[in-house]
Amino acid sequence: MKLYKLFFPMVLVSAAWAADAAAGKAAYDASCKKCHGADGTPNAAMARMLKVEMKHLGAPEVQGKSDAALIKETLEGVGKMKGIPAVEKDAANIVAFIRTLKK
Ligand code: HEC
Repeated sequence: MKLYKLFFPMVLVSAAWAADAAAGKAAYDASCKKCHGADGTPNAAMARMLKVEMKHLGAPEVQGKSDAALIKETLEGVGKMKGIPAVEKDAANIVAFIRTLKK
């Protein structure tokens, strides 16, 4: 019984995480993919147009940032990227999806 009590919450947590990443992918595809690519690979034409060197979202420099920092950059903008406040309710899910892009 003790073991059951220990493991059950862990199962719930991992199930919730999986659901979030899937919801995040849908939001990412709708709002981020045109610039960041389906798998985090920057859209070269977009980078050229904005005259900026974009990093792969799975790169260590990006993955090394905290969830809070990634959410802030997404909503408020970072460098040449304008913030996208419209994804606020999906921001944590999008970050869960970005974590799956880790190289
Ligand atoms: C119009 C194109 C465009 C869209 C749409 C866009 N981005 Fe970006 N994003 C950029 C560019 C360009 C940069 C690089 C900014 C810089 O370094 O000056 C960037 C950088 C980032 C970074 C920081 C990466 C790093 O170098 O550390 C994150 C995180 C990010 N974007 C997340 C998102 C998310 C999440 C979405 C969707 C909700 C999104 N972006 C939508 C263009 C875009």
